[in-house]
Amino acid sequence: MAYLQCRMYILGGTSAQSIATNLANRLRQPLAHTTYKRFPDDEFYVRLHDDIAGQDVLIVQTAYPDSKIIELLLIQDAVHDAGAKKITVILPYFGYSRQDKKFEEGEAISAKAIAQHISLHADCVITVDPHKEHILRFFTVPAYSCSAVRTIAQYLKGKHIDFILAPDKGARERAKEAAALIDCEYDYLEKTRIDGTTVKITPKKLDARDKHVAIIDDIISTGGTMANSIKELKKQGAKSVYVACTHGLFAGGAKEKLLSANCDEIISTDTIETEFSKVSAAGTIAETLLKTALHIKN
Ligand code: R5P
Repeated sequence: MAYLQCRMYILGGTSAQSIATNLANRLRQPLAHTTYKRFPDDEFYVRLHDDIAGQDVLIVQTAYPDSKIIELLLIQDAVHDAGAKKITVILPYFGYSRQDKKFEEGEAISAKAIAQHISLHADCVITVDPHKEHILRFFTVPAYSCSAVRTIAQYLKGKHIDFILAPDKGARERAKEAAALIDCEYDYLEKTRIDGTTVKITPKKLDARDKHVAIIDDIISTGGTMANSIKELKKQGAKSVYVACTHGLFAGGAKEKLLSANCDEIISTDTIETEFSKVSAAGTIAETLLKTALHIKN
C-alpha cells in the first residue's frame, strides 16, 4: 500500500473507534486527542486537544443511530472552527441512505437531508457500500464509495463456501463479485417487501443441494430478508448457510431470527461494531482515501 505524503490527523467518533485506529495504523498518521462526554440530559459534548489549524483532518464516524449523526455534526463544527485545512468525512455506514427518494408524496428524502448537513463542514466524503450509488450525489462536496465485498469474500473463502446467493436483485452484483473472487457459482432470489419487517421470497430452484452457501447483502436490519433466504436454502438441501453483510444493524430480534432459521454463521464488517464484526472495512477505506488523495480514478 502507498502512504499519504501529507500529515493528516485521524479523528474517530464514538461509533467508529476501531476503524479510526485501524486507519491510523495503516496510513501511519496520528490519532487526534478528544474528549467526548454526555451531559446529564444526554446532550453530547466534544473538545479537541490538538492544534489542528492548517492541518488535514479525517473524521471517521458511522452515521447511525440518530445520536451519532448529531455527534458527527458537532465534531465537524469543532474541527472547522479550529481551522482545519481540509476535512474528509468517512462514513463507514451512512444511516438513512435507504430513504433515497420519495416513495410516497410528502415524504422527506432522508438521505439527501442528512447528506446536505454533513456537507456543510466537509471537503470530501467517503462511505462504504452505500445502499444505492446515486446517494453520493446528495452530498454537495465530492463523495466517493468503496466496497467491502472483497474483504468479506476473502473471509468466506477460508470457510470453503461453494455457492453465493443474493437475497434480492439489488444484491446480485455484490454476489457476482464475491462468487468470482471465491471462484464458485452464484444466484439470486426475488424478494418483495411487504412492510418494514415483512418480506416475501418467491420460491426458486437453486443449485444449493449439499453445498456450503453464503448469502451476501449490504445490510442486515431486522434479519427478515436473510431468515427467509436461509429457510429456502435449507429446504433445498444446503449443507450449511452463512449470512454476510457489510452493515450489521441487527435491529430488534434479528440475531434470534437468524439463529432460529438455523444460520451457521453471521458475518459483518465493523462499519457498525457488533459481536459479528469479523472483518474490517478499514482496508477498502484506506485504499479509496489514497486514490482520492492521489486523484486516481477507480
Ligand atoms: C434492502 O434492499 C437491503 O439491501 C437489505 O436487503 C435490507 O435492508 C435488509 O433488511 P431486513 O434485514 O430488515 O430484511
